[in-house]
Amino acid sequence: MEWTNEERYRTYDSMTVEERKKLELSVSRSLWRQRYHIQPPYGLLNDPNGFVWYKDRYYLFYQWFPFGAVHGMKHWYQTESIDLINWKNKGVAVKPELSFESHGIYSGSGFVHNEFLYLFYTANKRDGEWNRHASQCLIIMDDKGKMIKQDIPIIQKQPKGYTEHFRDPKVWKEKDSFYMVVGAQRKDLTGCVLLYKSDNLKDWHWLGELKTKEMNFGFMWECPDYFELQNHGVLLFSPQGIQAKNDSFRNIYQSGAYIGQPLDLNNNYFEHEEFQELDAGFDFYAPQTTVSPDGRRLLVGWMGLPEIEYPTDKEGWAHCLTLPREISIKNNIIYQKPVRELQKNRQNKVQRALSIQGITEHIEAFSGEAYEMIVDIEAKSAAIAGLKLRVGEDEETLLYLDKSIQKVVLDRTKAGELFAQEYGTIRQKSYLKEKVRFHLFMDTSSIEVFVNDGEIVFTSRLFPKKESLGVQFFAKEGMANFEAVQWKCK
Ligand code: FRU
Repeated sequence: MEWTNEERYRTYDSMTVEERKKLELSVSRSLWRQRYHIQPPYGLLNDPNGFVWYKDRYYLFYQWFPFGAVHGMKHWYQTESIDLINWKNKGVAVKPELSFESHGIYSGSGFVHNEFLYLFYTANKRDGEWNRHASQCLIIMDDKGKMIKQDIPIIQKQPKGYTEHFRDPKVWKEKDSFYMVVGAQRKDLTGCVLLYKSDNLKDWHWLGELKTKEMNFGFMWECPDYFELQNHGVLLFSPQGIQAKNDSFRNIYQSGAYIGQPLDLNNNYFEHEEFQELDAGFDFYAPQTTVSPDGRRLLVGWMGLPEIEYPTDKEGWAHCLTLPREISIKNNIIYQKPVRELQKNRQNKVQRALSIQGITEHIEAFSGEAYEMIVDIEAKSAAIAGLKLRVGEDEETLLYLDKSIQKVVLDRTKAGELFAQEYGTIRQKSYLKEKVRFHLFMDTSSIEVFVNDGEIVFTSRLFPKKESLGVQFFAKEGMANFEAVQWKCK
């Protein structure tokens, strides 16, 4: 379906009951609705926004286009949770109303201060010539959920030397001041991050560009996030325009981090190491972090990518968010682990120890579409050892350790309905040991794999047939030992 600009740039208020019912009916027929991931009721979800603990619960908003699976007029959709497992859908939270936000409420962040929740977002506007105008804006929410939108932007436009690609404010506090990073593009069409400062969260002044070692790393840096963790400074961002290199940067756009010294706020200088990709899978973008009440740094990402058609697009909905993860740093590498709260979602434990040469039958007890599984593999004499998941007629998703090339591999070549094949159907990452732990979460149309306590993560959508539920174990050219535990998800 081709969308005209009028169709694309409508607000949710203008949706008729018939339109809504049609979308709901189409979504209800989908084979790929997730069981325990945050997904839109209909329409398109993208970035997580305003992820924060406020008063007695987590708030997690997301970018939402209500009318179908395209990127159009963005709103913020609101979800809430007290336990990071059960999320309540609260409906649209922020919608375009003012002239400077006439073409969408873009991404941003939440910050709690003096009993209020401050929500920072980018207002997107197109003028008559379809030129983009971006400003940074603020909503203040009280503990009753009442939101007051500031009727003028807190940052009117980008500074001189930068283009209109200026978005996704993220705020934090340091001593008595507040700081904000905003994704930006220099006039020479290279990406960067701009740094702002405020004493009251309302009046902001530009400190300059956040100086890194990279003056030429992609054409735009989206969704920046700065925080300090275990005495390191971490700048998370989603750069666009990075060339694929060996097994890295294989997706259309990337997301990852620089780890370095805590940011030098007197000189806007960030001394950092090489960019590290956060995820080795196919579908991961625009992650955002927050801090839990007990001090853990939590991360949620969009399980999707811009400019890629997905199999559910034709059903009028698209995408979901990742599970919340706790991040930490070991040997200058970011580790991601599923938050421990998710263990409360476990039921019907099944456990097996196997020694295999060749391939098992389907192990009936393990089969399913929504489960958590931990598999320890020791590739004794085998060159390759791993799992076949969502196995059905002509379908399988492979996850294995290949000792002969020293890699862990996720292969969705035969996973089901294919998409984005031009970016390849295999993802792999260098891995030098003989033992590996795959901790994985399977949902109806996704897999998230945490390798060895989250040293490597593969996040991907899969679109298998309803009947493709099998689980098999395999070892090639020798023998391997497996210890597997599985829980069905509630
Ligand atoms: C990232 C992004 C952000 C922007 C939002 C619009 O996916 O492009 O930079 O704010 O999506 O939906």
